[in-house]
Amino acid sequence: MEFEVELIQGERKETKNVSGSLPLLKVIQESGLELDSYCGGKGTCGKCKALIKPAPSPKARERNLLENSELEEGIRLACLHTVEEDLTVEIEKGGEISILAGEEEVSCEIDNGWNRYIYDFEEPSLEDQRSYLRRIFDRGDMEETSLSAIKQLEKRREENEIVAVGKDEYLARIGSQEEILRAAGAAVDIGTTTVVVYLLDLESGRELAVDSFYNPQKELGADVISRIQAARDQKDGWRKLQRMLVEKLNSSLAGLAEKMDLETDDIYRMVFAGNTIMLHSFLGLNSEDIANSPFIPTICDQQKFSPSDPGLDINPQGEIEILPSISGYVGGDIVADMLAVDLADTENYNLLVDIGTNGEVALGKSDKIYACSVAAGPSFEGGNISEGMAAMPGAADSFEVRKDGFDYTTIDAQKPVGICGSGLLDLTAGLLKAGVVTASGSFQDKEKLPDFWRRRYERKNDIARLKLFTEDESGRERPLFFTQKDVRQMQLAKGAIRAGIEILMDRAEIGTQQIDEVYLVGGFANYLDKRHACEVGMIPEKLEDRIYQAGNGAGAGARMMLLNENLADKAADYKEKTEYLELSTSTEFQQEFTDRMSFPKLE
Ligand code: FES
Repeated sequence: MEFEVELIQGERKETKNVSGSLPLLKVIQESGLELDSYCGGKGTCGKCKALIKPAPSPKARERNLLENSELEEGIRLACLHTVEEDLTVEIEKGGEISILAGEEEVSCEIDNGWNRYIYDFEEPSLEDQRSYLRRIFDRGDMEETSLSAIKQLEKRREENEIVAVGKDEYLARIGSQEEILRAAGAAVDIGTTTVVVYLLDLESGRELAVDSFYNPQKELGADVISRIQAARDQKDGWRKLQRMLVEKLNSSLAGLAEKMDLETDDIYRMVFAGNTIMLHSFLGLNSEDIANSPFIPTICDQQKFSPSDPGLDINPQGEIEILPSISGYVGGDIVADMLAVDLADTENYNLLVDIGTNGEVALGKSDKIYACSVAAGPSFEGGNISEGMAAMPGAADSFEVRKDGFDYTTIDAQKPVGICGSGLLDLTAGLLKAGVVTASGSFQDKEKLPDFWRRRYERKNDIARLKLFTEDESGRERPLFFTQKDVRQMQLAKGAIRAGIEILMDRAEIGTQQIDEVYLVGGFANYLDKRHACEVGMIPEKLEDRIYQAGNGAGAGARMMLLNENLADKAADYKEKTEYLELSTSTEFQQEFTDRMSFPKLE
């Protein structure tokens, strides 16, 4: 039986005819509308909210995860309902992802081999009967080519001047000056949550345009493990994961090229950074063995491929390169971070902390690097937090908490609709200092709370929570809460990162005094308050003055390697001298993690 589902998100309206019993979340995702689904449809994250008319009876899980006012209004979790009658479904409008706006251009020597050559086409004559191709090769820049480039040459033989694009004596393309304006390249940071694509001029190194989008694979789950399970459980799952990403990359590249009056054929080189599982999924490789002990990837070394291998629509004579990974859980994104901050070029140790959907920590000096991955969870990206969200318009991104109230800011100064990573960190540190949260991470007993916070305190389903924004203050037309569970998630995240740092320092047999610089990298690294990062105990307090916020290090490292292919050797050297510490079965780590869950006493 078929039913009609009318989908509405902002200005967008779509009607779908759906065969009975299809999960509503799937219908929404297939229509291309944006809806968070952190748990990948398992009904545990409470993020896939939709206003359904007529509203089905709420499930037990919805009673826990949704407010009574939401249930009364008809809001349900799309993953918990199937289509069994005609429906109208309204979804809140998602915003644009805020990437690191104003991020600085990378600076490195340009040496990627790609050049445009402008040649006068000498008039043939009886005395000079050299072939058209020989006339180009005789210029001395190139001496090999493909049949497709020769066919392009055929069309140009009437012209006086031609542009030839090539690398390492290989002629890749021929055209007129109007046709070939640049030799461009693209660096891509494939994050589990967001993907950033940078278009650069390969000859000048100038950044031309940048695009970012949610990783389309997130409809199969927010974390890599959910995606591996989803791919494993369906026919052709690995290919499907790859196609989702590559299709979106192709449309992003086409958009960037158009913006710069270029064609995708003008893109000759691409470099990819990403965690090991993202790089596997980009290449269509089965990454199931990375999910299970002993966590073995299919590839870890730096590799070059033809654009057609993964199906990228750039110049077919171009090249794509992926950064090397260190292990199943310390990927090419961390090697790119290391390149971006020059992690191991000094005699003293530098510390690198990448806070993304997961946490990776590296401690390195010129002859040795130690690295580990810690299960910090996606809290800083908004996952696992009741009102958590990505850094989008309306996200509360900073808090200044006092005993008698608090000040806050939101992205684009809109009414608050949730809290992003930097806001969560400020809020947690502030509540700790105001005595609302204790060092063990529990909310203070109601009667001991300062007056302001006592009035904001309540319990739902036996879980303590604070009303941060009333229905009138909130942009969601319902109150927004910060719960005891949210504090626990913050403890897990910061405890895991701190434990990783301590384990690496122990392994290197050093203390904080032997660390020169601390680089915080990752999506929200530039926005977090480093004092608060130390106050909650995520970073050792003694290192506060040595913290540098290095932004999207993976994107910077990928751009550097795009412009300078010799950095592939440096990346390989970093990989070579890295000792990876597997912490998943380490009792030492478990003990450290348990110890570091508590907050430092700040009152
Ligand atoms: Fe529906 Fe998580 S609760 S996707």
